[in-house]
Amino acid sequence: MSQRHRASWARVPVPDCSAGRKLTPMCGIVGYVGGQNALDVVIAGLKRLEYRGYDSAGVAVLADGSLAAAKKAGKLANLEKELADRPLPTGTTGIGHTRWATHGAPNDANAHPHLDNAGRVAVVHNGIIENFAELRSELTDRGHELLSETDTEVVSHLLAEAYSSAGDLAEAMRQVCRRLEGAFTLVAVDADAPDVVVGARRNSPLVVGVGDGENFLASDVAAFIAHTRDAIELGQDQVVELRREGVTVTGFDGELGDVREYHIDWDASAAEKAGYDYFMLKEIAEQPKAVADTLLGRIDANGRLVLDEVRIPAYVLREIDKIVIVACGTAFHAGMIAKYAIEHWTRVPCEIELASEFRYRDPILDPRTLVIAISQSGETMDTLMALRHAREQGSRVLAICNTNGSTIPRESDAVLYTHAGPEVAVASTKAFLTQLVACYLVALYLGQVRGTKWGDEIVSLVRELSDIAKQVEQVLGTMEPVRELARSLKDKNTVLFLGRHVGYPVALEGALKLKELAYMHAEGFAAGELKHGPIALIEDDLPVVVVVPSPRGRSVLHDKIVSNIQEIRARGARTIVIAEEGDEAVAPYADHLIRIPATPTLLQPLVATVPLQVFACELATARGNEVDQPRNLAKSVTVE
Ligand code: F6R
Repeated sequence: MSQRHRASWARVPVPDCSAGRKLTPMCGIVGYVGGQNALDVVIAGLKRLEYRGYDSAGVAVLADGSLAAAKKAGKLANLEKELADRPLPTGTTGIGHTRWATHGAPNDANAHPHLDNAGRVAVVHNGIIENFAELRSELTDRGHELLSETDTEVVSHLLAEAYSSAGDLAEAMRQVCRRLEGAFTLVAVDADAPDVVVGARRNSPLVVGVGDGENFLASDVAAFIAHTRDAIELGQDQVVELRREGVTVTGFDGELGDVREYHIDWDASAAEKAGYDYFMLKEIAEQPKAVADTLLGRIDANGRLVLDEVRIPAYVLREIDKIVIVACGTAFHAGMIAKYAIEHWTRVPCEIELASEFRYRDPILDPRTLVIAISQSGETMDTLMALRHAREQGSRVLAICNTNGSTIPRESDAVLYTHAGPEVAVASTKAFLTQLVACYLVALYLGQVRGTKWGDEIVSLVRELSDIAKQVEQVLGTMEPVRELARSLKDKNTVLFLGRHVGYPVALEGALKLKELAYMHAEGFAAGELKHGPIALIEDDLPVVVVVPSPRGRSVLHDKIVSNIQEIRARGARTIVIAEEGDEAVAPYADHLIRIPATPTLLQPLVATVPLQVFACELATARGNEVDQPRNLAKSVTVE
């Protein structure tokens, strides 16, 4: 691949972590130069990135020595309508942006791209320029007129000035970047530099797609996967110059930059809806495959685990005396479940902490602490900051991540990738199940390396884990009554979720899915906590979902939750009970009974979560909500 582009790579310094301690909003960015109609490529790319933000969208193309731009508040569909009413001239170089607003209202003026006063330069941006007020007043003093409330606009003006003296867009971008404080991805074009797109990144994602006679820039490979599966991961503080015939990467100082080339192992069809009404429905249905793919190649013929990618040497893993898991949202719930498995199988104390709280309480960390950072996107700022803090204290960090080339695995000591494929729906489903699988693998691997589990025990647990994909498939085949129930509850205001042991994080996950998709008041509780307060919420016909542990094995847990069901039912709750096949003890107390296959207790979340995903998705649809793009949310939360 390097033959086709004329860059040669030299080392760049380790990421500047201090610069990373900034806020970075989401947003999706696309850049294209090649032989195709740039507008078509850019709009198609933005559609794939709309999950990153959908407050406004805009594009700019270079055509016949001039620059043409369009931008519109609201979803991409508004911009497409604008372009149909007022078409732009056709060109083969272009950039685009879809925004999740932080500074400045989501209106037309604040939408990207931002132009200089001559209308020659266009810039799209993801991030916050922290010294923009100072730069803005400097520009105003020199006679520039700034038209928006954004920090981005200063970059287009500075870039126009720098280009007029440097005469080279990449050099102009380097000069501008050296003046910027904050975190940013920038992509720009200049009408005086036809067939060139430049990009820059500091603490915000930007990947290069390497095509044949065409090249791409995007926040995420999904934007260009229909055109190429060859990608280049940019490093920190780098500028990339994109031309048809090649890509040149330099540091902000102009030295050639060090980058990583990689091949994307999924194709465009993975990022399509494939006949489903929503990505979320498709992603729920893909879970058996995602689970199986995450196990693939990690178990040898003798049933032992082979996690070659965990590059932390076995002797280091044997010396670890504490594990701390950091994650956010759904990934945090996966981490809660991992704690049960890790402590049970390895006897190493394990803590789980919200990444956003972690570094502010001065956690006790040292080289014998293993930190596990779980993140689907690999870009969640809270998780990234937590892992940087852990590494500064000398701890090793193992990332569990779904996105190749993202920042979290890049900054970790090792990574175990989940093979869920691209997750497009904002609410996480298949990523969650694969995070669980990866956590179980890590827990068992630690048990194997540290000798806390006998070989035959590991073989048998691995076999049970390998059976789960089939069981998830089985659950998916029985979901019609769950959908019907969800529709019947569409006018309710509140749903509560209860669980015990690993069923407690499942209850939290069920509640989170319902909040974010159905915009309902939904809360998850540890069932044992009921009598300490939450039971006061129970009133007549209040739907309460209860995740029941297996009656086999830890039957004491089962018996306790059966009592909890009776207690809430006696107070009028409508009980929706998720219980394994053959568990007859719960049947008399269930107003609605959802059956799941029998699994070992620790693995039950892999099957018990699925009905809750289906329930939330159907309830949201019944309430007329946007399932794939819930209000106020974006897929990668790159703000702290
Ligand atoms: C909920 C959801 C979020 C994410 C959280 C972490 O459905 O998707 O709670 O789980 O924002 O995101 P990642 O895993 O990308 O770090």
